[in-house]
Amino acid sequence: MPRKILVTSALPYANGSIHLGHLVEYIQTDIWVRFQKMMGNTCYYVCADDTHGTPIMLRAEKEGIAPEQLIDRVWYEHKADFDGFHVEFDHYGSTNSAETKEYSQEIYRKLKAAGLIEVRSVEQFYDPVKNMFLPDRFIKGECPKCHAKDQYGDNCEACGTTYSPTELINPYSVVSGAEPERRNSDHYFFKLSADTCQQFLREWTRSGTLQAEAANKMQEWLGAVGENKLNDWDISRDAPYFGFEIPDAPGKYFYVWLDAPVGYMGSFARLCKSAAGPNFDDYWKQGSDTELYHFIGKDILYFHALFWPAMLQHAGFRTPSKLFAHGFLTVNGEKMSKSRGTFITAESYLKQGLNPEYLRYYYAAKINGTMQDLDLNLDDFVAKVNSDLIGKYVNIASRAAGFITEHFNGELKYSGFDDLTEFKAFDANLSDEVAKLYEAREYSQVIRRIMERADQLNETFNDVKPWLLAKDPSKRNELQQCCSLILHEFKVISVLLAPILPVLSEQVAKCLFGLPEKFIWSDATSLTTKINPYQHLMTRIDPKLIETMIEANKQISEPATDSHSPARHAEAQQDAIAPIGDTISIDDFSKVDLRVAKIVNAEHIEGAEKLLKLTLDIGEAQPRTVFAGIKSVYVPEKLIGRMTVMVANLAPRKMKFGLSEGMVLAASGDAPGLFILSPDDGAQPGMRIK
Ligand code: 2FM
Ligand code: ZN
Repeated sequence: MPRKILVTSALPYANGSIHLGHLVEYIQTDIWVRFQKMMGNTCYYVCADDTHGTPIMLRAEKEGIAPEQLIDRVWYEHKADFDGFHVEFDHYGSTNSAETKEYSQEIYRKLKAAGLIEVRSVEQFYDPVKNMFLPDRFIKGECPKCHAKDQYGDNCEACGTTYSPTELINPYSVVSGAEPERRNSDHYFFKLSADTCQQFLREWTRSGTLQAEAANKMQEWLGAVGENKLNDWDISRDAPYFGFEIPDAPGKYFYVWLDAPVGYMGSFARLCKSAAGPNFDDYWKQGSDTELYHFIGKDILYFHALFWPAMLQHAGFRTPSKLFAHGFLTVNGEKMSKSRGTFITAESYLKQGLNPEYLRYYYAAKINGTMQDLDLNLDDFVAKVNSDLIGKYVNIASRAAGFITEHFNGELKYSGFDDLTEFKAFDANLSDEVAKLYEAREYSQVIRRIMERADQLNETFNDVKPWLLAKDPSKRNELQQCCSLILHEFKVISVLLAPILPVLSEQVAKCLFGLPEKFIWSDATSLTTKINPYQHLMTRIDPKLIETMIEANKQISEPATDSHSPARHAEAQQDAIAPIGDTISIDDFSKVDLRVAKIVNAEHIEGAEKLLKLTLDIGEAQPRTVFAGIKSVYVPEKLIGRMTVMVANLAPRKMKFGLSEGMVLAASGDAPGLFILSPDDGAQPGMRIK
């Protein structure tokens, strides 16, 4: 009987780009779902943008747009990134949907009816300028312990102490810079401390729903029986807030983490409304015999292993069959870093023309079903993809297919092999073994087994030496049979790799083996009798592309002043703009020759208070020298390598420190702060801006 499975990945926030860290999760989930579908199981994969909360509301305000506009734009960006990496959702929605609202409210009402909602007054910091309560992350001040300045409201990054925001010395609002006041407000709590919740969670977290290490962590959080360590969960936020209003509680909104997981239901509910879509209750009703799996990062286990199942259980819905938590991504052994250029966005990877299946392959080679972190070592990435994927796997087909096409018109022949049955049994064993590994998310072992097989096939090819057989007419049969078997085995491993390499394997299925459809699992054990002429399958990674990608991801414009200081945030909030100047014609505008310039050098000038000396490449034989008044906000070393925009036909100006051959453009307002411009990735020195 085919299984009925619903799978989710964590919902990405709608105010940031998808990066390679996110992709560890989406790729591993997509591989698992593709495997289930290949096996003939009914498997749905849904996800959505996580759209609510204060940061999204403030970001939209800063951009001068409505939150709905921001989340709309980001949805398309996220969707394009996922498509780019072949992450194939059955539905990709948004938590800002009618369905998510409906289920959030339904769950809330049921929890309330069960006596699990309580209202309590809470004292919190309030920004009297912005007229809003401040989440801890939006308050900064001096650490009460080590006195480091500008520390967040929940913990000190300098000494590691955790505290409550009310303990900060000289606190200020990150939003307006104002000194926050303490105010009281009614908050709605989900009574996780109730016996029914604690008892249920104690059982649920021990019933095989979690990986061993996660289950242990949960026991720590739950405490010993009778200890009741769980606190009630504050599920409300005061207006202004971008989210869903709580029923019968005007001005109170669901905290983003309440409706985020409900987004799994909301997204699936939308899928159910499509033609021939599944039935919602089959997958969500209490007592359902379908399977529900959430792939998540280990940092959000608390929400998924405590709040979420307790909510579902007490609102009459089914609980997850299992949570699959994974570790974080490091790049070259370190945390991803914007200044090192290792905070790599999905978009920048794809923009370099790097094949997404390189990354899918590399991640698969490292994923093992535990919560361990995973390292993307960029040198190893290039080496592994080039040597394993191209050098071992693709190589098998490119070596063997030519003989079959050239000498046998594409006909494969296996007769004369006494051990064909043995071969078939071998294929069946291998495919069973690999299927078990996929099911357990032990993808690194999948790759290890497949590469072992690829090594054997390459060795066989080397031993049999088809290039010699081809020269001897009496060895014709032998040539056909050995190349046929090697190609058959190539097909087997292509089927087994299909969840990881969906596009490449589809090309193998259709172009080389002439199948009408992409592979299904049982193709691993069937014999094919014909191939089409071999067509190029995949190229090696050019290491230069990696270097360019790293450069493109370096965020060099760290202003010298602290970007989180009250003054700068007050400035970010300013809404009055200088009046627009007199109208000019297009001819007037085109007199200004604006060019993309690469800052090849930037240095301090002795005796200059405001100026930095920049050397700019705009594609001319000699770079230009420009003196720019940006010393107060830019550190020269951080500008080097960065692209910007200059006026290239401004009359040269003799200055105290030398001749300035143009002007670099920068934005500024009334408040302090100066921001030089950057073209989008891909712009080259000398390109005209028009
Ligand atoms: O941590 C995050 O990025 C959250 N946006 C994940 C939400 S997952 C689910 F609960 F919606
Ligand atoms: Zn401190």
